[in-house]
Amino acid sequence: VQASMEMVKALLDGSRNVVVLTGAGISAESGVPTFRGREGLWKNHRPEDLARADAFFQHPELVWEFYNWRRELLSECVPNPAHLALAEMERQIPNFLLITQNVDGLHAKAGSRKLMEMHGSLWQVKCTVCTHVHEDRSTLPELPECPVCGHLLRPGVVWFGEPLVPGVLKVAIDQISKADVFLSIGTSGLVQPAASFYQLAKDHGAVTVEINLEPTPNTGLMDFALHGKAGKILPELVVGM
Ligand code: NAD
Ligand code: APR
Repeated sequence: VQASMEMVKALLDGSRNVVVLTGAGISAESGVPTFRGREGLWKNHRPEDLARADAFFQHPELVWEFYNWRRELLSECVPNPAHLALAEMERQIPNFLLITQNVDGLHAKAGSRKLMEMHGSLWQVKCTVCTHVHEDRSTLPELPECPVCGHLLRPGVVWFGEPLVPGVLKVAIDQISKADVFLSIGTSGLVQPAASFYQLAKDHGAVTVEINLEPTPNTGLMDFALHGKAGKILPELVVGM
């Protein structure tokens, strides 16, 4: 159902338990390209074809080049009003969790603290052989080496076909099961398990709301939908909260 701002505002005003899921769309207005759609292409490769463990082990230089490009692009990006509005929402709602599929770090930069980066972080690197993990914001060589064991380092993100970091899904499910309101913002809803979170929320009695530039495959299954730019809608939702 197409909702009005007033309806969603009233819904949030009466809520103590809110879970928000975000995707690439929330960072689009910060200049971060989304994954799907024409702007998502990189040198004629689809990001979905590069963000994979098998692609990395076949062509590590290509995949590192793609990640270095994303890291450089991101170093110029700052949080937009949508990220800032969610940091404010966290301060107003007693039990709040922001689950993001984004690896850009912009929610943390905007001040969100009750935050789960379920796909990891572009700023993290980890060893492909030993357990070493570290933060690194510099431009990396094409084939960076682990400072501990000398083997190849990889981006600290979750790739297609890989499991999430152990424990992450359980925390997400626990919080979603308790939510009064579940907001899905700027995600195409095509990648599991995040794509099923709204259904879990619904099954446990939450009211579900989609905020997206355009309808998605999940729109008809949500209780309410607001279509437009996240950077315009979210600041309006938190005004006077
Ligand atoms: P999936 O694509 O749903 O992803 C599995 C896990 O990886 C999930 O935990 C998800 O959250 C995470 N994940 C996926 N992509 C990520 C990314 N870019 N960055 C961070 N985290 C990411 O599971 P799957 O089993 O790999 O694929 C599901 C279906 O999609 C299958 O049918 C598969 O064939 C198809 N698929 C096709 C392509 C393709 O290139 N044609 C690529 C991927 C998946
Ligand atoms: N405001 C709101 N929504 C927007 C905006 C905007 N300014 N700009 C774009 N969108 C919406 C698009 O309409 C689209 O539905 O954001 C969505 C972005 O979808 P995807 O590019 O598919 O990104 P996402 O859903 O985050 O992808 C999920 O797939 O490749 C993997 O790991 C990657 O985390 C990513 C996951």
